[in-house]
Amino acid sequence: MLLHIPQVLNTQEVAEFRRRLDAADWTDGRETVGHQGAKVKRNVQLSETSPLKVELGREVLAALRRTPLFFAAALPRKILPPRFNRYSGGGEYGFHIDGAVMSIGAEEHLRSDISCTLFLNDPAEYDGGRLIISDTYGEHAVAKPAGDAVIYPSSSLHRVEPVTRGARMASFFWVQSLVRDDSQRRTLFELDTSIQKLTIDGADEDVLLQLTGVYHNLLRRWSET
Ligand code: NI
Repeated sequence: MLLHIPQVLNTQEVAEFRRRLDAADWTDGRETVGHQGAKVKRNVQLSETSPLKVELGREVLAALRRTPLFFAAALPRKILPPRFNRYSGGGEYGFHIDGAVMSIGAEEHLRSDISCTLFLNDPAEYDGGRLIISDTYGEHAVAKPAGDAVIYPSSSLHRVEPVTRGARMASFFWVQSLVRDDSQRRTLFELDTSIQKLTIDGADEDVLLQLTGVYHNLLRRWSET
C-alpha cells in the first residue's frame, strides 16, 4: 500500500528543519548502502554520527507520534532513527530495493517492512526528484508538499529521479511493523478507517463493538511482537 500522510510537520517546523539543514555538513550518501546501492546512488546525507541528524530524527519521531494516520497504516513495532538526504545538481538514486535488515546501534536489528519519505521541500522548488515506486500495478511518481510523508512497502523497487533544478531534501526511515504482510496491514487499515467513519456517522453501537472486536482479533492473529 502506497499512502500519502499529510502534514506530519507543520509549516513552522518545516522552516526550522530547513534553516538547520541549510547550514549542515553533508556527506556522501553511499555511506549507508551496500555495493549494489552504491552503484546507483548520487546524493548527500547527514552523517550517521551527526548530532543534528540525531536531534532532528527525534523530532520526526515525535511528529509521527502525533499522527494517528501513520500509526493506523504502519502499525509500527520499531522505527529506524530517521535519516536526512539532499539531492541537487543532477543527483539521483537509481532503481534499488532497500536492505531487508538494518542495524539500530550495535545490537538491535530492524526488518524493513515499510519505507517512509518525509518531504522537506515543496515540489515547485525543484525539477525532477520524484520518487518512482514500481509495484504490481505499475509505476507511481510521487512528490508531496513539504511536511507531508509517503509510506510504501519496502519490498518495492523504487528510485529518485535526477534533480535538475533546485534541491530536494527529505527525511527517510524504515518501519518494522507489527504486521509483516502488506496485504494484511492494508486490510486492518481499511477496517480501522471504516470503523472510525462509522463512529463519526453515529452507527449502531452494537455493530461498532462487533467490528472493533473483529479488528482486534485479526490484529491478534496477524501481529508479531
Ligand atoms: Ni530506497
